[in-house]
Amino acid sequence: MEWSRCTCVTAAVLLLLLPRPCSPAGDKLTHGESMLPGDTIVSDGGAFVLGFFAPSEATPARQYVGIWYSNTTVTVQTVVWVANRDAPVIVDGRSGNSSSAPSLALANGGSNLVLSDASGRVVWTTNITGATSAGTAGSTAAVLRNDGNLVILSPDGATLWRSFDHPTDTLIPGMKVGRRYRPQDGVDGWRIVSWKGPGDPSPGSFSYGMDPNTSLQLLLWNGTRIYWRTSAWTGYMTAGKYHGTTGTVIYLTVIDNDEEIYSSFSVADGAPPTRYVVTYAGKFQLLSWNRNASAWATLESWPSRACSTYGSCGAYGYCDHSQAVATCKCLDGFEPASQGEWSRGMFSRGCRRSQALAPCGGSGGGEGDAFLAMSNMKVPDKFVLLGNMISDDECAAACRRNCPCVAYAYASLRSSSAKGDNARCLVWTGELVDAQMIGAIWGVAAETLNLRVPAGFTGKKSGTKTVKILLPVLASVLIVTCIVLLWFCKCRAKGKRRSSGSEKKLVPGSVRTSSELEEGNPTEDLEFPSIQFSDIAVATNNFSSACMIGRGGFGKVYKGTLLGGREVAVKRLGKDSEQGIEEFKNEAILISKLQHRNLVRLLGCCTEGAERLLIYEYLANKGLDAVLFDNERKSLLDWPTRFGIIKGVARGLLYLHQDSRLTVIHRDVKASNVLLDAEMRPKIADFGMAKIFGENQQKANTKRVVGTYGYIAPEYQIEGIFSVKSDVYSFGILVLEIVSGVRISSTDDIMGSPGLVAYAWKLWKEGNASDLVDTSIVESCALDEVLLSIHVGLLCVQDDPSGRPLMSSVVSILENGIVSLPAPDQPAYFADRNCKVKGDDVQSSRNSITMTVLQGR
Ligand SMILES: *[C@@H]1O[C@H](CO)[C@@H](O)[C@H](O)[C@H]1NC(C)=O
Ligand SMILES: *[C@@H]1O[C@H](CO)[C@@H](O)[C@H](O)[C@H]1NC(C)=O
Ligand SMILES: *[C@@H]1O[C@H](CO)[C@@H](O)[C@H](O)[C@H]1NC(C)=O
Ligand SMILES: *[C@@H]1O[C@H](CO)[C@@H](O)[C@H](O)[C@H]1NC(C)=O
Ligand SMILES: *[C@@H]1O[C@H](CO)[C@@H](O)[C@H](O)[C@H]1NC(C)=O
Ligand SMILES: *[C@@H]1O[C@H](CO)[C@@H](O)[C@H](O)[C@H]1NC(C)=O
Repeated sequence: MEWSRCTCVTAAVLLLLLPRPCSPAGDKLTHGESMLPGDTIVSDGGAFVLGFFAPSEATPARQYVGIWYSNTTVTVQTVVWVANRDAPVIVDGRSGNSSSAPSLALANGGSNLVLSDASGRVVWTTNITGATSAGTAGSTAAVLRNDGNLVILSPDGATLWRSFDHPTDTLIPGMKVGRRYRPQDGVDGWRIVSWKGPGDPSPGSFSYGMDPNTSLQLLLWNGTRIYWRTSAWTGYMTAGKYHGTTGTVIYLTVIDNDEEIYSSFSVADGAPPTRYVVTYAGKFQLLSWNRNASAWATLESWPSRACSTYGSCGAYGYCDHSQAVATCKCLDGFEPASQGEWSRGMFSRGCRRSQALAPCGGSGGGEGDAFLAMSNMKVPDKFVLLGNMISDDECAAACRRNCPCVAYAYASLRSSSAKGDNARCLVWTGELVDAQMIGAIWGVAAETLNLRVPAGFTGKKSGTKTVKILLPVLASVLIVTCIVLLWFCKCRAKGKRRSSGSEKKLVPGSVRTSSELEEGNPTEDLEFPSIQFSDIAVATNNFSSACMIGRGGFGKVYKGTLLGGREVAVKRLGKDSEQGIEEFKNEAILISKLQHRNLVRLLGCCTEGAERLLIYEYLANKGLDAVLFDNERKSLLDWPTRFGIIKGVARGLLYLHQDSRLTVIHRDVKASNVLLDAEMRPKIADFGMAKIFGENQQKANTKRVVGTYGYIAPEYQIEGIFSVKSDVYSFGILVLEIVSGVRISSTDDIMGSPGLVAYAWKLWKEGNASDLVDTSIVESCALDEVLLSIHVGLLCVQDDPSGRPLMSSVVSILENGIVSLPAPDQPAYFADRNCKVKGDDVQSSRNSITMTVLQGR
């Protein structure tokens, strides 16, 4: 007997006589062998192990037979399949009496795997019927293949049973989810069912499988209710997606042939172990082994966001994922059924038509109706598939002819299916539920949904379009107006002040290093490396507008290339106004004293005639705001990068506040003042507003509040009191922005909350803080770091300055992941709502403009 490593004769007899039956060896369990607790078989190739395991450390005696990844690749035991998932066997560790231990063996005619408990009772069996032909039974074997499939082979090599046909909660490459058109080997389809709890493999309430009505999508159920839905397939196809966290490409396939229709996935040879799992908490997740971190990385997790669970925006509503924070909206041509509930974040009643369709049965029957197209949609559920539609027009005509039809979606299939149709026409005749708008980065098939509207419909669609174009235009006009106004005011104020004050001159000279800096009067003039104005003019192509890369606190910023090829950023003070001279000096003096890798570096300075120039290192990726809030570019900032930015800014601020021998309050920490170098490392810039505190000074009072709307701490905005804690507040806002990808100045309601801080707080309180994560980075995010960042962010934006941590605590929390943090208090969303400043001359903008309040309180 080739299979058997030990010579077992008539096992049934010997079992009673031998002190211990033969243990299995290699990758097989042959006829006559018994696998006992502690025994394992390992696949040929070493990827998977079959054996007994105890999922709960609390009850080590309750054991299951299962398959897990070999500990040579995956160092935390990860079970992918369980045989007796709802019937554990009890293993009494103390008695070494093998005849009273549970065992797995080929029995029941020789071709069934049977798990018996200590008393010999059958706990689980493979239940193959009819295959038990006497005479061949003696040479069947159970083999664990290297793909993790446990198979029973007949002597002639036929597969009698496969564990892949009886999945538990996990899909690994080669397994299928779907159904068979005709049952075969007693298997009519494949559906995966979650465990009940972390230590309990018995079937839980969540399951994942084919939609039995359409076979065009997969569903995640909670009990009998649909909990989440995939996109409807636009073809029977293969699609690859790259996941940067572990460098894995996942190929998804949908197959429809004469026998079965199913979805499966594969990874490239040599890729790390990768699996889909339905967790006991109801998430459908894609995980890949991160060898470097020796941990599973969650690449995707569905439902991903608050409003992506099935139907959560109600009938005719959709979950808008194209926003950084997903939120419910009404389909075009519809409005909230109850505006009051909708604006309080209650969406279950959905939306209703803003302009009714002609009733069915009347003359005409709506033949003249038009269609509104919404693109980038995951189409709603409850569609009907129409065959033989070869064009969009035909699909539209079919919908128009059928009076109850309210929408259609047409797709030409990417690869022809075995069933012949190479186009797919879906129509809807009932409520439209569970639609989503998906951003370009979402990575699933987006389609155009065509909604039926009355002929000559002029409602929302054209309106929203105009608004979409007009808003940015209006906003920019406003911003420009504000800048001009501010300019004027500041000039006038300065002009008055100047007559009484005197100016010190900046003296070009030699470079000072930080070690030469002396404590003492921090406002004394410093010497800088002198750079000729003419050199800078050449470097910036005579300050050509093509070289302009931004606008700083007091002038324009240009990119220049010095003679040696070195790239620099040049800040040029507005020429024909005194405005900003003080800020210029302030910045020059300060930054020359400060050196830290998270602060932008000053290379030199130039004062010639009326020209005032500061020359900085050039940072390739410019302002954080330009990446973070840009739908095209934001995915460049994956979670590890964002976490790095948060920590970098924290270290930079810590240096300003504490470690630089001066206490410097930046007073304008915001996304556009964090610059990113080529490796996306952050550097704090723009010290025009910064203030230096004396050694024992804790806080200061000012009549002139400077900073940026949304980032200004309440006590500073109302009372003009600033301290290191006002920077901490701005930092907290910045952290929430970085996690969510939402601007603090965004005026949109987010899921019924009036602003980012309120929304973050609400999610935090409900225990759903992870929903705050920007949709474009969900796959790369490490949940513990995200939660820690949100926690820190909320602690920093508390109204009471003494409740906010110092930057030293923030840095140590972020570096060490301290878990026992105080719970944050509810912020009053001060900065998100209206400006409560008491003053006559308040000029502010919702965007990133310096806010000046001439009279504090
Ligand atoms: C892997 O498992 C084997 C058998 O269970 C054990 O002997 C070995 O120590 C384990 N190796 C590691 C690295 O845990
Ligand atoms: C093992 O257990 C069986 C049944 O429980 C018992 O009959 C037998 O004597 C035990 N043998 C030893 C060596 O303890
Ligand atoms: C085996 O089949 C019988 C009858 O079809 C069924 O009652 C039993 O639950 C099955 N057992 C297992 C472990 O599938
Ligand atoms: C399938 O269709 C029936 C009848 O329309 C409906 O009651 C049922 O909910 C549908 N099932 C799913 C999973 O959509
Ligand atoms: C699943 O359904 C149960 C019972 O309907 C409910 O209590 C539970 O909250 C649901 N779980 C999720 C994650 O929605
Ligand atoms: C793992 O570490 C190696 C060497 O440090 C590095 O080259 C590789 O990119 C890392 N892989 C991942 C997935 O982070």
